[in-house]
Amino acid sequence: MEIKIIDAKREHVNEILKLHLALTDYYCRFEKYYLPSSRQSRLIRKEIRENMKDRKVRVLLALHNGVVVRMMVVKLKKPERYLKGKLMGKISVAFIDEKYRGKGVGRLLFREAIKWFKKHKIKYVRLTVHSKNKIGLSAWTKYGFREFTKDMKLDL
Ligand SMILES: CC(C)(COP(=O)(O)OP(=O)(O)OC[C@H]1O[C@@H](n2cnc3c(N)ncnc32)[C@H](O)[C@@H]1OP(=O)(O)O)[C@@H](O)C(=O)NCCC(=O)NCCS
Repeated sequence: MEIKIIDAKREHVNEILKLHLALTDYYCRFEKYYLPSSRQSRLIRKEIRENMKDRKVRVLLALHNGVVVRMMVVKLKKPERYLKGKLMGKISVAFIDEKYRGKGVGRLLFREAIKWFKKHKIKYVRLTVHSKNKIGLSAWTKYGFREFTKDMKLDL
């Protein structure tokens, strides 16, 4: 399977939005407090456009025969006050079309992100994954991530 990795361009906004919304609905399976895609699409579209203009953000896409099958949004971010370093890496969004999962496409994009982080002398990369998202947890663990903090919630 020939996959091409590129930085997103304006013409990809609709395809990115589709993947973004699919991720939003995928996450609704795990948590009743997540907003469904139908209530977020305008904001997500705005965010995608802003991300594409921001030099501290890369919207990476994997194309198969010219079709966007996967996206990953990576950022250079200021860490929290109590953490060392001026910037850290952040994997903000990652989603791959179901048909293309488990075929190594994720790893290709991840490698590209790591190259970019290293170029910016980033020492660590963080991401958030829902505790019930077994596929996400498994993928990130395979890529070398380890649990760092736990984000807890109390339902009232
Ligand atoms: C997580 C995700 C981005 C990884 O991308 P990918 O292209 O599938 O990743 P790879 O092919 O490099 O596989 C990496 C690992 O992911 C896990 N994985 C991928 N697809 C899987 C599936 N259908 N079932 C279980 N585990 C799966 C496996 O641990 C796999 O490692 P292995 O091939 O050695 O078993 C992608 O599977 C995805 O979009 N999942 C749904 C959305 C999601 O969880 N996004 C992350 C939110 S934090």
